Amino acid sequence: MTDDLIIFDHVGLAFGGEAIYEDLSFSVGRGEFVCLLGPSGCGKSTSLRLIGDLLAAHSGQVTIDGKPPSQAWQDVAFVFQSPRLAPWRNAIDNVLLGVELRMGKEEARRRQARASELLAMVGLANSAHKYPSMLSGGERQRVAIARALAVDPTIVLMDEPFSALDPNTRRRMRSEIESIWQRTGRTVLLVTHDIEEAIVLADRIVLLSNKPTRVLESIPVTVPRPRRLVGDPDLEALRDRLQRLFQSLETEPEDL
Ligand SMILES: Nc1ncnc2c1ncn2[C@@H]1O[C@H](COP(=O)(O)OP(=O)(O)OP(=O)(O)O)[C@@H](O)[C@H]1O
Ligand SMILES: [Mg+2]
Repeated sequence: MTDDLIIFDHVGLAFGGEAIYEDLSFSVGRGEFVCLLGPSGCGKSTSLRLIGDLLAAHSGQVTIDGKPPSQAWQDVAFVFQSPRLAPWRNAIDNVLLGVELRMGKEEARRRQARASELLAMVGLANSAHKYPSMLSGGERQRVAIARALAVDPTIVLMDEPFSALDPNTRRRMRSEIESIWQRTGRTVLLVTHDIEEAIVLADRIVLLSNKPTRVLESIPVTVPRPRRLVGDPDLEALRDRLQRLFQSLETEPEDL
């Protein structure tokens, strides 16, 4: 690909003598929606931490737009599995929290209108003054998504952002994320171990192996959006193939 924004170039990483990655290479194109799919413990969250400069590679390199993560953190925003809102701040002040921490109170004041727009975009125009305890789980997660977008990141990193939600909310949130991505042109790297989620959302699925982790396959998904998995023979075939691959990963003897 000519316009790669995030590049993992032969990355190696070990924790306490255990190799997590020995030679992990993959990239994410500018504006691309990539789902990182892999078994539990293979290092999906770790790869987001490398991109976010919360951790450093031991060998090889991670670059973001040609820069090391330490010089690119302003391009990057996170959405975690749990929303991590500040309980003493209402929804709009939570949306502005990232702006305030990165750019100061002045800038946060200037972005009030933008924060309201973002809350409206995630369907919470009438909840701006509610505190987290007054919001449902799905609503809190939507505040967290608006907060990530409020800093105007080039890259949005999401670590299983819907896994704590009930199936209906999860479906709604997926289509919301998809339409936000289509409207804003951000680059999204979403970590999941939900095969269906990856198939419905991704431009490309990067499938990771067990440790020491490498890329098993990089699978473009070209079916037009919005996608419905059930009844679409191509997507169903892809799901079945990924399920078989996953099963073989789970039964692979770890300590041969
Ligand atoms: N700070 C740390 N110290 C020691 N080991 C760690 C540390 N962080 C992660 N690990 C180990 O690295 C491996 C990868 O962890 P990571 O959290 O990235 O997995 P994951 O793919 O996100 O898994 P899951 O799907 O369960 O969230 C795991 O074996 C984990 O135990
Ligand atoms: Mg994880």
